[in-house]
Amino acid sequence: MLTGKARERLVEAAVKNFNDNHDKLVPEYPFFPDPIPEPHASWFTKFRGQLGDAQGVERSDKEGRRRDVARQFKFFGAPVGLIFTMDRRLVPASFICYGGFLQTVMLAAKGRGLDTLAQQIWSLQYPLLRKELGIPESDMVVCGMCIGYADNGLPENDMALDKFGPEKFATFLDA
Ligand SMILES: Cc1cc2nc3c(=O)[nH]c(=O)nc-3n(C[C@H](O)[C@H](O)[C@H](O)COP(=O)(O)O)c2cc1C
Repeated sequence: MLTGKARERLVEAAVKNFNDNHDKLVPEYPFFPDPIPEPHASWFTKFRGQLGDAQGVERSDKEGRRRDVARQFKFFGAPVGLIFTMDRRLVPASFICYGGFLQTVMLAAKGRGLDTLAQQIWSLQYPLLRKELGIPESDMVVCGMCIGYADNGLPENDMALDKFGPEKFATFLDA
């Protein structure tokens, strides 16, 4: 958990690293299949379009998009930043457990009136995180997380997302 000067130090190093090397950063584990299969590719493109519209950043505006991604490495201004790691000898099932753990942290924060944002994107900064935070090679960087108070006045926090109802992904059996 990073607060105060430790958070400032990491944010400064991470934003610089991103600005200097944004086209070379790769995550420690794949974020998406390559290529993304349908229907996921269409959903992803649609969401990215909605997000870009809300933020007022065109897909063609590379500089604007880079500035926007750099905000991720400032923990969006949240005063508390978390970096999550996991013993890399574990297997994909452990990611299921890890997701539950992340959700518990987020619900515990919510229960105390705080907001969170999970950030897989921190995995792109794993070499820097390893160096700055002394993370051993035996651990992989899973994600980061911001804890603070959401600014619900921001358009991207107030998007009318086209979310699926449960009938799209659940089967209800009762007899
Ligand atoms: C595991 C996980 C990783 C995520 N990584 C990122 C990320 O790197 N950057 C980002 O802006 N949002 C990321 N998100 C999405 C935000 O956390 C999302 O805005 C948040 O979950 C709120 O979702 P909601 O709008 O459905 O409430 C991630 C979500 C999850 C669950």
